[in-house]
Amino acid sequence: MKLPPNARFSTRCLHAGQEPDPATGAIITPIYQTSTYVQEELGKHKGYEYARTQNPTREALERNVANIESGTEGFAFASGMAAIGAIATLLKSGDHVVVSDNTYGGTFRLFDKVLTKFQLSFSYVDTADLEQTERAFTPATRMLFVETPTNPIMRITDLAGAAALAKSRNARLVVDNTFASPSVQRPIEFGADLVVHSTTKYLNGHSDSIGGVVIAVNADDIEWLRFVQNAEGAILSPFDSWLVLRGTKTLALRMAQHNANGLSLAQFLEAHPKVRHVYYPGLPSHPQHALASRQMRGFGGMLAFDVGSLDAARRLLNGVRLLSLAESLGGVESLISHPATMTHASVPADKREALGITDGLVRISAGLEDIEDLKADLVQALDRV
Ligand SMILES: Cc1ncc(COP(=O)(O)O)c(C=O)c1O
Repeated sequence: MKLPPNARFSTRCLHAGQEPDPATGAIITPIYQTSTYVQEELGKHKGYEYARTQNPTREALERNVANIESGTEGFAFASGMAAIGAIATLLKSGDHVVVSDNTYGGTFRLFDKVLTKFQLSFSYVDTADLEQTERAFTPATRMLFVETPTNPIMRITDLAGAAALAKSRNARLVVDNTFASPSVQRPIEFGADLVVHSTTKYLNGHSDSIGGVVIAVNADDIEWLRFVQNAEGAILSPFDSWLVLRGTKTLALRMAQHNANGLSLAQFLEAHPKVRHVYYPGLPSHPQHALASRQMRGFGGMLAFDVGSLDAARRLLNGVRLLSLAESLGGVESLISHPATMTHASVPADKREALGITDGLVRISAGLEDIEDLKADLVQALDRV
């Protein structure tokens, strides 16, 4: 199989980095469930010595994801957090990082509770506002860490603007692209240096694996990440690598349906009398709809909406039948959650309020069910509000 150099996205999802297995010709990369590799004679091996360092299943996934994110090399880790932890090792004590203010709570916890112990410092700003972002830079700033869209109120950061700002200050732009997936947005094409994913979400897409991946373009970053992936050892297992690789093959197809269902639910909810406000970048009412239209292809499957109070949110969440009340996102099945008490419970109440994460806010990860069934479920649940 030879992938044409100008192959389109869905073709790359299926074929990039995928060679028939050299031992058997198996079209699907096998799960190389082994800890070590036998050497023919002293110092003579097939490029594989020990499976923390090299594993063919993981490598097939890493090549695939690097290609579909328009990067150079990928490194797969045991979770999204392990991937972000590996990126943090590119910093050294005394460095400062500017971070999107409503970044994923686990990222905030890692930065705030773990990395500050190592003389790293962090400033949290609304990176959708590039002037405010620039003001947060100090002479010690070496990284701008952005999530776009943000969770759960879907603020959008201008990727090209953020990349130009980081470059002008000799800092790396890191984008957590978990919410969008490379089908919807490819930050490296806008100038990002590193992209990170919780593969747990859209890349795997089937709610049956925890994993993470970093995609890099700069030679120095690649060399370091390869070293640290082996040195710290938080690698993705062969089985999880195989699962995620199976997921990326259908990414384009799944995202088309996530996008369609996300938009349709956002429009339906915006017109519903019990709903006060809908946050979805695909709606013309979203304040950054024009920017989102420029840098995203489709607007993803994540949306949030406000039903006015904790009591109303509770009745809605307890009333759904088809949607599942659960954290996480990006799987084939639709999930519904309550950010204030679930994903963002550790964020202090005043900060939550400032971010727009009210007690009446509900988040949906639109899955792949028939849209009419999803709407019918929300109609009956909203009737209880
Ligand atoms: C945007 C984002 N980044 C990173 C993570 C962490 O990923 P993991 O749970 O795979 O460690 C999550 C998890 O929810 C996330 O939503």
